[in-house]
Amino acid sequence: MEITFLRLIRSSSVLASYTIVLLFLLFCSSFTSTEAYDPLDPNGNITIKWDIISWTPDGYVAVVTMYNFQQYRHIQAPGWQMGWTWAKKEVIWSMVGGQATDQGDCSKFKGNIPHCCKKTPTIVDLLPGTPYNQQIANCCRGGVLNSWGQDPSTAVSAFQLSVGRAGTNNKTVRVPKNFTLTSPGPGYTCGPAKVVKPTKFISSDGRRVTQAMMTWNVTCTYSQFLSQKTPTCCVSLSSFYNDTIVSCPTCACGCQNSNTRPRSCVEADSPHLASVVSGSTQSGNNLSPLVQCTSHMCPIRVHWHVKLNYKEYWRVKITITNFNYGMNYSQWNLVVQHPNFDNLTQIFSFNYKSLTPYSTINDTAMLWGVKFYNDLLMQAGPYGNVQSELLFQKDALTFTFDKGWAFPRRIYFNGDNCVMPPPDSYPWLPNASSRMVFSLLTLTSMVLSAMAILCAHA
Ligand SMILES: *[C@@H]1O[C@H](CO)[C@@H](O)[C@H](O)[C@H]1NC(C)=O
Ligand SMILES: *[C@@H]1O[C@H](CO)[C@@H](O)[C@H](O)[C@H]1NC(C)=O
Ligand SMILES: *[C@@H]1O[C@H](CO)[C@@H](O)[C@H](O)[C@H]1NC(C)=O
Ligand SMILES: *[C@@H]1O[C@H](CO)[C@@H](O)[C@H](O)[C@H]1NC(C)=O
Ligand SMILES: *[C@@H]1O[C@H](CO)[C@@H](O)[C@H](O)[C@H]1NC(C)=O
Ligand SMILES: *[C@@H]1O[C@H](CO)[C@@H](O)[C@H](O)[C@H]1NC(C)=O
Ligand SMILES: *[C@@H]1O[C@H](CO)[C@@H](O)[C@H](O)[C@H]1NC(C)=O
Ligand SMILES: *[C@@H]1O[C@H](CO)[C@@H](O)[C@H](O)[C@H]1NC(C)=O
Ligand SMILES: *[C@@H]1O[C@H](CO)[C@@H](O)[C@H](O)[C@H]1NC(C)=O
Repeated sequence: MEITFLRLIRSSSVLASYTIVLLFLLFCSSFTSTEAYDPLDPNGNITIKWDIISWTPDGYVAVVTMYNFQQYRHIQAPGWQMGWTWAKKEVIWSMVGGQATDQGDCSKFKGNIPHCCKKTPTIVDLLPGTPYNQQIANCCRGGVLNSWGQDPSTAVSAFQLSVGRAGTNNKTVRVPKNFTLTSPGPGYTCGPAKVVKPTKFISSDGRRVTQAMMTWNVTCTYSQFLSQKTPTCCVSLSSFYNDTIVSCPTCACGCQNSNTRPRSCVEADSPHLASVVSGSTQSGNNLSPLVQCTSHMCPIRVHWHVKLNYKEYWRVKITITNFNYGMNYSQWNLVVQHPNFDNLTQIFSFNYKSLTPYSTINDTAMLWGVKFYNDLLMQAGPYGNVQSELLFQKDALTFTFDKGWAFPRRIYFNGDNCVMPPPDSYPWLPNASSRMVFSLLTLTSMVLSAMAILCAHA
């Protein structure tokens, strides 16, 4: 659909209407990003599975496993925190592979003191390097949870807990209520726990199957709107055919000196830079970004440069720059939408995966770093960037440098929508902007079809 639609744009060669179409595209994408539903990852969720492994005299032992089924949204340091409200007067006697952050009031207990007596416990992962006798499979990564698209084997996190004062069979046990998941900021909403068919465990040699006494599942979904974050990244553009470098929109992620969205920042050449940075990271305050003073004030900038034009191919260079002195981004990822991703021929030094491989519009790619090479985007400074080049094969019917076609439609960094420059500022092909004649009829019909097609697609 989008391909024929782009042909329509080409044949009409109307600059202004394309501008309006792009504005609608931006409108649709900013509209949908406020909902929990993410059009680029419609099934994305984190599922918490609670398996009761055995009954005990006053409760049970359970293994709680978290699966990050999201294609490109991961949880990085300082890691996830999970919470719930006990339905009765349960306590946690002991834990393996995780711990409650707060023991709470256990003064009623004599002799054997529980690990946690709180009605609403908060659980965190243990750190790497935990002694083996306190580990279980998939624990102890400091709460870091990779995305399913990047690496399913590290997109799972688990801990074991022994629960007391609970029911001791599948009729008297009560499922906890009000599950919460933070990363550790807000953004996730968890549904109610649902009792499901008991999980079957297959032994490592595949010759024996055991099953849980009882299992319940909780599904948590993410919404960028709920996380109430100001944008965290922006996009800048340039091309070989026009000297203009379109920088990130001013104040894309905040303004330096304004009352509306003020944000503090650090001058790149500040003589006290090192002490400011180490002071702030030591105080553990690495959630509020320590960004370099720029006009856009974003911690992350993604630059898209249309580099070369060959007979049958064209080449793009992508540079991701970190302006945050307080953060090394581990396992970062980028989601990029451009109609030519159906004909990506080669990608250098990033991993690539098509996010919409079976859809008719195969236009969205997920890109991430190569392990031990550039999967860590270092803090702001001389090493604070990663780069890649993409080689696309041209499709004679849709390919054009005209009217900003060569630029991406949208970009996400670590699952958050990046602020794009306004479409009318894109570098145009020389003298494309002189053809401003258009008919009102074409304009109206194109705007209407754009709304219908693009909003349905988004
Ligand atoms: C959660 O994600 C998994 C994997 O994509 C999917 O099978 C499941 O249906 C999703 N659950 C919900 C409630 O969306
Ligand atoms: C509870 O356990 C009994 C056997 O002890 C079983 O027949 C029943 O299906 C179980 N119910 C649930 C909800 O798992
Ligand atoms: C769960 O949360 C809802 C809404 O926040 C609240 O009304 C309810 O009382 C909570 N339930 C428990 C058991 O805490
Ligand atoms: C419960 O979660 C597990 C793990 O994600 C999944 O395999 C299972 O299908 C889920 N059960 C239901 C009924 O959704
Ligand atoms: C980033 O990583 C480097 C090298 O491992 C380290 O020296 C630096 O302190 C880290 N920065 C932050 C903010 O964690
Ligand atoms: C989508 O594009 C990718 C990258 O070119 C390709 O590997 C994949 O086969 C395409 N899928 C379809 C259905 O065209
Ligand atoms: C990819 O490019 C080739 C060569 O121009 C073209 O024949 C083919 O249709 C293109 N594929 C898609 C899915 O557009
Ligand atoms: C380059 O693009 C800008 C729009 O960003 C336009 O104003 C300018 O005229 C273009 N330069 C040339 C040489 O066409
Ligand atoms: C486009 O620019 C070229 C050289 O810059 C010029 O020769 C040509 O007349 C221009 N065409 C139009 C339609 O303005």
